[in-house]
Amino acid sequence: MTVSIIPQAESFKYDQVSRYINALIENGALKPGDKAPSLRKLSKQLGVSIATVSQSYVNLEDQGILKAKPQSGFFVDVQVNQINDIPKSTSTSKQPRKVRFGELFEEIFSNADNPRIVPFGTSIPSMEFMPVKPLTRATKSMLSRHPKRCMDYNFPPGDRRLREQIVQQYQHTSTRMSADDIIITSGATEALSLSLQTVAKRGDIIAVESPTYFAVLRLIEKMGMLALEIDTDPATGMNLEALEEAFDTMDIKAVLASPNISNPLGCLMPEENKRELVNMLAERDVPLIEDDVYGSVYFGERAPRPAKSYDLNNLVLSCSSFSKTLAPGYRIGWVLAGRYRNKIRELKQATFSATSSINQLAMAEFLSSGQYDRHLVRLRKSMREQIEKGRYMICKNFPEETFISRPQGGNVLWVELPRGCNCIEIFNRALQHNIGVTPGILFSATRRFKNYLRINCGYPWDETNEAAIVKLGQIVRDTLTESNAS
Ligand SMILES: Cc1ncc(COP(=O)(O)O)c(C=O)c1O
Repeated sequence: MTVSIIPQAESFKYDQVSRYINALIENGALKPGDKAPSLRKLSKQLGVSIATVSQSYVNLEDQGILKAKPQSGFFVDVQVNQINDIPKSTSTSKQPRKVRFGELFEEIFSNADNPRIVPFGTSIPSMEFMPVKPLTRATKSMLSRHPKRCMDYNFPPGDRRLREQIVQQYQHTSTRMSADDIIITSGATEALSLSLQTVAKRGDIIAVESPTYFAVLRLIEKMGMLALEIDTDPATGMNLEALEEAFDTMDIKAVLASPNISNPLGCLMPEENKRELVNMLAERDVPLIEDDVYGSVYFGERAPRPAKSYDLNNLVLSCSSFSKTLAPGYRIGWVLAGRYRNKIRELKQATFSATSSINQLAMAEFLSSGQYDRHLVRLRKSMREQIEKGRYMICKNFPEETFISRPQGGNVLWVELPRGCNCIEIFNRALQHNIGVTPGILFSATRRFKNYLRINCGYPWDETNEAAIVKLGQIVRDTLTESNAS
C-alpha cells in the first residue's frame, strides 16, 4: 500500500515521517524491539526521499524512540512504550478553598533565575529556540528610527500596529475580532490579574482546573477569592459534567481555564467541549477567563481554536502573551476582553498604567517582518521533540511506577511519582545538586499533588541536562526507599 504524505505548509517532511512512525508505535503495529521499515521501503511507501526518512530516523534515535544497530537498520527501543501515561484523577475536594501558600512560592522560586541551576523548574523554552537576533534587530531599528516614541508612554489599549499584528495571528482561528478589541498588557499575568479583578471580588468563587497553573492560585490568594478545583482530564481538559454539577450547588463567579494546552497537564480540550463550555457559561451569564499562552505551541496538525472563537455573548476574556513563543522578558501580553473591555482598560490605566513602549514597538516590528509564523513552525517541532525525549529520559531513569503526561503542546511534563515520594523533599535535595524542579503541591489549593513534579523540557537535552535527569531519578528512588523503610 502506498501512503502519500500530504505536504503541509506547516510541517517539515521528515517531521511527517516521524509522526507516521510514532503512530505505528502508538497503535501497536510496531512493538518495542521490532525493526523499523527500511529507509528504502518507507521512502517508497510514503513518497519521500531516502534522505528524508534517514533524517527522521536520526531524530527519532535522538529522542530515544529508535535505536540504530550497525549493519542491521533501526529498531524500536525496548523501553519505548513502557511509558505510563498519567491516569485520570477524580479526587478534587468539591469545596471552594481559600488559597494559603504564603511564603512557599517565594522560597521555591528564589532560585528560579539562577543560571547555575538546571532549569527543569521553569516553564519557558530556552532562548536557543527563540529568534533572538531578529528580535534584537527589530528592537534596535525601532529605537534608532523612533527614539522619542520608544521613550514616551504608550497608554492602554496599547500600540495600534502591535494590536493589528496580533489580529493577524488570530486569522486562522475563526475568532471574530478587530484591533479595537485588544488591550495590551505586561504579560499574560497582568491580563489574568486584570480579568479576575474585573469580574470578581473578595470572597467570590472561581472555578479552576485541577491541577492548575500555580500563578493563577497565587492571584486568587492575593485577591482573597476562593478556588474551586474541577477535575481535569489529562487529555481533554476540564471535566464539564463536574463543572455543571458545581454550578448546581454553588455561586461560581467565573471560570478560569486553559482549554488550549494547560499548564502543567498539557491537555487540549476538544473543539466540541470548548463550544459546550462557552455555551454552559453563557446560559448562566458567567464569564470565562481563558489562559491561552500555549495556544500557538500545539503539537497536532491543526491550530486549535481559542474558546473565544465560540463566544457569541462577549463573555470570554481571552488572555495571552509572547512569553512562551518569543521573549518572556519583553512582558508583552494582551487580553481580548469582550464586554469587559472598557472596565479593563480603565483598571489598567489606574493600576499598572502603560506597558513598555519600546517593547510594544519592537514586537510590532518583528511581527510585521513575517518571520513569526516560520519561527512558530520550528518552535512547535522543537518542543515536540524535546517533550518526547523528556518522556523517554524520565521513563528510563525514574522508578517503574512513575506516570508521565502526554502533552499536546507546550514544554512541560507532569510526572506522578509512586506514593511515598514527597515533592518538597525531592525539590530540596535536587536543589543541593543545582537542579530545579517544580513541586506538585503548588498546583492545587489543597496541596493534593504531593507525589508529583512538573519538569520543564524546553531546554536542549545536552550532557548537563541529561545527567541532571539521571541524578533526579536517583533522588526520587532514594526518597522512595527511605519512605518505604520508615
Ligand atoms: C499557563 C500560563 N499562563 C500564564 C503564564 C504567564 O505568562 P506571562 O509571562 O506572559 O505573564 C504562564 C507562564 O509560565 C503560564 O504557564
